[in-house]
Amino acid sequence: MDALAIRNLTYEVPEKKILKNINMSVPAGALMAIMGQSGCGKTSLLKCIAGLARPSSGQIEIDGTDIVGLSESEIDQIRLKMGLVFQYAALFDSLNVYDNVSFGLKHHKQIDKKSVANIVAERLEDVGMSGTEKLFPSQLSGGMQKRVGLARALAMEPSLLLYDEPTSGLDPVIARNIDDLIVETKGRHKVTSIIVSHDIRSIFRIADFIGMMVDGELIAFLNPRKRRCRSLPFDPWGRETRKLRKIPIPTAWRPLPAS
Ligand SMILES: Nc1ncnc2c1ncn2[C@@H]1O[C@H](COP(=O)(O)OP(=O)(O)O)[C@@H](O)[C@H]1O
Ligand SMILES: [Mg+2]
Repeated sequence: MDALAIRNLTYEVPEKKILKNINMSVPAGALMAIMGQSGCGKTSLLKCIAGLARPSSGQIEIDGTDIVGLSESEIDQIRLKMGLVFQYAALFDSLNVYDNVSFGLKHHKQIDKKSVANIVAERLEDVGMSGTEKLFPSQLSGGMQKRVGLARALAMEPSLLLYDEPTSGLDPVIARNIDDLIVETKGRHKVTSIIVSHDIRSIFRIADFIGMMVDGELIAFLNPRKRRCRSLPFDPWGRETRKLRKIPIPTAWRPLPAS
């Protein structure tokens, strides 16, 4: 079964269709990237998947359960299976690393203090941040904050991890470290991962599948290990697409040679 299946998803706010008839599925354990320029609807798609935005129509099945139309409390239950790693690490500034990472555990899981401490230590080790428990977010660099954000998401043992621009604003070396960490996390914790990003280099390095979003539509899927995906209705990078869709494809989006 697919970990996530989206069918005919439309999301609109007054006067704007943000997502238009999105169809996609992600096999369990895979790392799917959604790529597209700023403002095309990537964050909105993640919000719909996380149940933070309400689609106008369509289905979003998570492990076989359609979350569209569920009540808030039912969605809260499903959200416990998801880890969200937001664009800005979104740590609580007034809480230290320990309290940030243990936040969800204390609120949602009935476990004793010692077990919480063990989980925090393990997850911090996973992200290369052992020993930082007492530090506050303001004492951490951007890359370190992202690591702690990931540790916090992992503490809840999610089966689905959603990353919003996980490497944006980081210098290239740190960004690459975070990429490696995302791939490691996928292997170690057997999670299904969805990453939205406009960082094409990063995506081609780590994704198993890529969906390309333009103006609220997923217009093509490709396999980053192949230059072209044979099952595609058209070559998303080529002249044919541009003619068909009447959209300019920025040169920066051409696939890069494998590094
Ligand atoms: N709640 C909202 N109300 C009105 N417009 C919105 C809302 N959320 C997103 N948008 C608009 O929808 C478009 C897509 O936004 P977003 O999903 O944040 O794109 P991305 O993450 O790809 O940059 C943008 O034009 C944004 O301004
Ligand atoms: Mg965004």
